[in-house]
Amino acid sequence: MKTELLSCATQAERERSVARAVELLKAGELVGIPTETVYGLGANALDASAVEKIFAAKGRPGDNPLIIHVTGPEALFEYCAEVPPRALELAERFWPGPLTIVLPSKGNVPREVTAGLDTIAVRCPDSPLTLEVIARLGAPIAAPSANISGRPSTTEAAHVMADMGGKIAAVLDGGPCRVGVESTIIDLSCDPPKLLRPGGITPAQLMESGPLELDPAVYRLLGPDERPRAPGMKYRHYAPRGEVTLVKGEAASAAEYINSRPAPERTAVLCFDGERELYRAAVVVEIGAQEDYDAQAERVFNALRSVDSEDIDFVFARCPKPDGVGLAVVNRLGKAAAHRVVEV
Ligand code: TXA
Ligand code: MG
Repeated sequence: MKTELLSCATQAERERSVARAVELLKAGELVGIPTETVYGLGANALDASAVEKIFAAKGRPGDNPLIIHVTGPEALFEYCAEVPPRALELAERFWPGPLTIVLPSKGNVPREVTAGLDTIAVRCPDSPLTLEVIARLGAPIAAPSANISGRPSTTEAAHVMADMGGKIAAVLDGGPCRVGVESTIIDLSCDPPKLLRPGGITPAQLMESGPLELDPAVYRLLGPDERPRAPGMKYRHYAPRGEVTLVKGEAASAAEYINSRPAPERTAVLCFDGERELYRAAVVVEIGAQEDYDAQAERVFNALRSVDSEDIDFVFARCPKPDGVGLAVVNRLGKAAAHRVVEV
């Protein structure tokens, strides 16, 4: 299959591209869609055989449910069996934006979407292009991140083409993603509500409307007998080919540790701005200032992709503080490292 890259650089192209994306989705095809977090691999959520294609294209385990993407809070009433006031409050405050809400499902989407769970994950992405596609499709779009399972998520159309080219009908090019890490997931089907995945909306923002518990999968690897509430959180993720290690500590001691490791010529380092000169390594990528978690989030997957090469066996990443959006950056780096952390 030849994957069409649908450009939206001019108004005329944008109109043609949106129309083409809608046409392909209506025909049961897969289309890469832009969002403010990462690119999604979209299918008509009400078309079971289209949704099945997502799992094949990504190599995604069938027990890992998908988020449905909708145009606004009213969709909660369409697809969720119960909508508590807090869910509506959060949707009205943060949508469109990087927040996914899990609630009991009405059971009116194909079971391929929810992987047989009795809950459903709903989100309204902050991308005018994608919102227009969903509105014109007249159905939600089911979409996981548009990467091959296990690899870093995609934050540019070119990354989607690299992972999915030849396997899907088209990619709608909405430019680079502003947030850079996947949405925050809050499970409101339990009491107290649980943070299943950190993202662009922070725990502090969510706690302004009530209590919130952190699911252990947010900060550690679960044991073989533990079942995470977000099935996707049990898989190793976001990883380049080399072995990733998260290095916790100050810059000078991190550099001392990393520079003492063997094979600097096969080593890459992800560090904060201004630290480049400290490291002896084949590749050094700066991912933002030490306290600038938004910049780190925006760049982290790009950085992991850029060190994903045959020439790199070891990747060391400096560990941000788990504050605010920094929690999401630590979580993604931690998962890429399979939670291998050294304290220096
Ligand atoms: O920002 C995002 O959320 C991106 C963009 C494309 O919207 N999507 C995304 O999807 O990250 P994905 O499939 O890569 O991650 C979705 C996560 C998985 O860990 C999955 O297990 C979890 O959400 N999930 C989906 N439905 C769920 C449910 N009903 N209950 C608990 N977790 C759920
Ligand atoms: Mg994903």
